[in-house]
Amino acid sequence: MSTLRADPAISTSPNTAATRPWWRRALDVVDDRLGITALTYPVPEHANNIAWSLGGITAAALVLLVVTGILLTQFYAPVPEEANASVRHIVTHEWGMWFVRGVHFWAAQAMYVTAALHLLRVFLTGSYKRPREGNWLIGVAMFGLVIFALFTGTVLKWDQEGYEALGHNVEVANLLGGGGLWFSPDFANRVSILIRLYSAHVVLIPGLIVVLFTLHALLVKRHRISPHPSLTADDESTDAPAAEPVEPFTHHLRRISALGLALLGALGLLAVTFPPPVGPAPVEGIEVIKPMWPFWWMFTLENWIGLSGILYGGGALFTILVALPFIDRNPHRAWRHRRVAMTIASAIVAAIIVLTILMAFTTAKTHLGM
Ligand code: HEM
Repeated sequence: MSTLRADPAISTSPNTAATRPWWRRALDVVDDRLGITALTYPVPEHANNIAWSLGGITAAALVLLVVTGILLTQFYAPVPEEANASVRHIVTHEWGMWFVRGVHFWAAQAMYVTAALHLLRVFLTGSYKRPREGNWLIGVAMFGLVIFALFTGTVLKWDQEGYEALGHNVEVANLLGGGGLWFSPDFANRVSILIRLYSAHVVLIPGLIVVLFTLHALLVKRHRISPHPSLTADDESTDAPAAEPVEPFTHHLRRISALGLALLGALGLLAVTFPPPVGPAPVEGIEVIKPMWPFWWMFTLENWIGLSGILYGGGALFTILVALPFIDRNPHRAWRHRRVAMTIASAIVAAIIVLTILMAFTTAKTHLGM
């Protein structure tokens, strides 16, 4: 019979079964049935660093997005005739929903930022190397889904920004030919593309992220968290050194929950201070709005070489991310011993930042229908 004594923090108690407080015995009863103590497995101390908690913070943002998203779906009407008015109704007439929408809007961007920073941490500490290549690929897929969720979310409000985003969606689909059929309005004659993007936003994308995240977390447990390259003498090792102190995973979970609450506080503050805008219903045939900032770097490319710039830019980034664990054969994990990978990655990050800044100083240009 398992008991909660498997947790070292709890095992210090000298209580026997008879003298244990009622709530401890109640927890034992639950644990016998659900095996909660399995979560007390040891994790190295460095997993609690803020940089190593970024994946957990991303997961916390996902939870906030799902909860606020479920609330929003109660009032949002996903048909072209109603969509824009329903969003404006949500923020003006439904009690407290302006705040829920604000948290959802900022949580989406927070998830994008923390997922990108988590990706960079995994890259910097060489944690995508053997045996974690598969988990890196799962991460890349989740990152793509996060971007797709940002995009579909923008379309849903069906104002000028959303409508122009959809216009890009349709034209990129045309460029892709047969590969883009699902994104084109012709895919289903009787169901508007808004409804299909809505179903992707509320079911397909979050569902896939949850399934992939479950695999991701199981693989982190199976491989154990990668060693901190600066805490180990051998930076080719796949495991943390035996001398590093460990803590039960439940303590790590507690820390991530506290960070998640801090994130909620910050997002709430942003929602109150900078409530997300929603414009009036769109006007066809004009292109006057810049997309959301995570897409700016691709839109600078679009300004330079036309719509295909979005495809080439996004395609190149994801091809490099997918290929990375297979083309980088350097066994070292410390960044000092990985000059080539560091130089290429710095060039890519610098290019994305410069392209983004350039877009900040450019007015929207016309590309659709050209
Ligand atoms: C988008 C949602 C994501 C979530 C919710 C998530 C969550 C997590 C969590 C909780 C961990 C364990 C602790 C940590 O290192 O922070 C982890 C580890 C890992 N993640 Fe992610 N992740 C996401 C995206 C990504 C991306 C974009 C990549 C890379 C392309 C990635 C690759 C990895 C790898 C290789 C590990 C193992 C790292 C190690 O052992 O040090 N993940 N992830």
